[in-house]
Amino acid sequence: MEVTRRESLVLGAGLAMGAAAQAAVPGTGLGESLNRAARRGGRRFGAAIGMGRPGHVEGAFADPQYRRIIASECGLIVPENELKWGWVRRSPTGFDFSGADRLLAWAEAHGLALRGHNLVWHHPKWWPDWVTNYDFGARPAAEAARLLGEHIETVCRRYGTRIRSYDVVNEAVAAETGAMRETVFSRAMGSADDVLDLAFRTARRAAPHAQLVYNDYMSWEPGNETHRTGVLRLLERMRKRGTPVDALGVQSHIGSGNNVGDPSVFGPHDERAWRRFLDEVTGMGYDLLITEFDVNDRGIEGDIATRDRAVADYARAYLDLMLSYRQLGDVLAWGITDNYSWLQQRPPRRDGLPKRPTPYDSEYRPKPLRTAMAAAFRGAVPRRA
Ligand code: XIL
Repeated sequence: MEVTRRESLVLGAGLAMGAAAQAAVPGTGLGESLNRAARRGGRRFGAAIGMGRPGHVEGAFADPQYRRIIASECGLIVPENELKWGWVRRSPTGFDFSGADRLLAWAEAHGLALRGHNLVWHHPKWWPDWVTNYDFGARPAAEAARLLGEHIETVCRRYGTRIRSYDVVNEAVAAETGAMRETVFSRAMGSADDVLDLAFRTARRAAPHAQLVYNDYMSWEPGNETHRTGVLRLLERMRKRGTPVDALGVQSHIGSGNNVGDPSVFGPHDERAWRRFLDEVTGMGYDLLITEFDVNDRGIEGDIATRDRAVADYARAYLDLMLSYRQLGDVLAWGITDNYSWLQQRPPRRDGLPKRPTPYDSEYRPKPLRTAMAAAFRGAVPRRA
């Protein structure tokens, strides 16, 4: 096979791109890994991997078959929960890096990079109780800045250049109103914008090598208009303030709540609105990432083949659109086999059957979604150099 200059540059980037993923996918009969297909356009493909509940080593990471698929398909991973405050900061006094350390060591041993998710989940639901009940004292703004700063610096300094991309802030915009969410930190500091500004500036100082991402779940589907507008306004304000943000992470949990493939609930009008959104984001100079891709098939009826086909077609349309943006970089799936998908814990399907939102089924067989993803990567507009 002829190796283009671009490919040889990418190959030359070496281990960080995932040496394992250059090979065929063992045991599947698949010729080219998803990461290899993504790299044709100068991107990487990755997936979330997790250990289950804090304190319990369980979940996908404990499963050698899951690890094998990740190692052969991916160029990078993201810890599903192990870098969140809910894991790392279960007590006010200490930091527990046991989960993230193990994932990072495993990733490095397999030539995979690791993204940091997340430094601040700006959503009242996701703080540990001790944070929610924290006494910020007589000077709450200063104490909030100290606590946030200490956390971000500790994480960034611990991993140094081993982590080169962070979701610095996650989900700060309320989907229903488009306004900024209130948390104990925004109350203590006076405004959510001040929290975000502090978080990004601290991350830039502590990890000057890293790509800094604002990550959120506004999606292309109808019902997301208010959320999208709120995110655009936030991105505008951050540009005006000089807040150091490099990219928007588009979570891409697509299909939620809609009947995937039903033209009456999703059509060209929605697609145009989504393009307008992405054009505005990239027009402000932000790059894009797909950080948590999966396809919720909760609303799709029919047999397995029908459901898998609908998921694959819907995903293909979405990925083709996203991959037409040169500003789009890494693409990550939120789990790679159906049995470990977080969506199995969310509201069930009407027929009670497990969902099928990821590229591999629960017996570790590749599905039509995987084929659609590979085809989308192969047809992608190359990433901006
Ligand atoms: C989810 C995990 O998958 C679950 O295991 C956990 O219980 C809750 O969080 N958006 C995000 C991710 O940014 O961190 C979420 O992950 C899924 C939605």
